[in-house]
Amino acid sequence: MSQLTIVFISLSGNTLSFVKRLSDYLAFQNITTRQINIKELDHQTFPVEEPFVAILPTYLEGGNGVDTGDVEILTNPLDDFIASHDNYRNCFGIIGSGNRNFNNQYCLTAKQYSKRFGFPMLGDFELRGTISDIERLAAIILEAQANFSK
Ligand SMILES: Cc1cc2nc3c(=O)[nH]c(=O)nc-3n(C[C@H](O)[C@H](O)[C@H](O)COP(=O)(O)O)c2cc1C
Repeated sequence: MSQLTIVFISLSGNTLSFVKRLSDYLAFQNITTRQINIKELDHQTFPVEEPFVAILPTYLEGGNGVDTGDVEILTNPLDDFIASHDNYRNCFGIIGSGNRNFNNQYCLTAKQYSKRFGFPMLGDFELRGTISDIERLAAIILEAQANFSK
């Protein structure tokens, strides 16, 4: 039995739904998940000792995401959690969730984290994600976890 740790934030429930369904899918492959939901932590941070994947929606206020308006408004607690205790060193990749209606801003915050912290952007999905998103991203996550070395 192997294990996957998922660090995520979800404000309106889409990412939480994806994480739950991803975990159910992995359970069929005898993989257990440890889910760290940043929204439940009330700004607490702690070290995550094992490698983990991060999953993050984008919430930007206005603008076009290129030269204006890429101000992140709601998901900063995940940023703080990943930055604290050098947790970013155990993050083997990030997945963005968003809505393609936002065009250039689609999943922009996950892309920005990837650049800033230096871990790879492993993929993205819209809203709650489809079953094919879960199958596709599960394979990518497990491969990245297997190949990760600090
Ligand atoms: C105020 C607001 C701003 C948003 N901005 C973006 C954005 O800039 N880019 C994007 O891809 N999605 C954007 N979204 C869509 C959310 O990222 C998407 O609905 C996501 O699934 C929400 O995840 P959650 O339900 O787990 O919080 C925005 C949604 C809201 C309500």
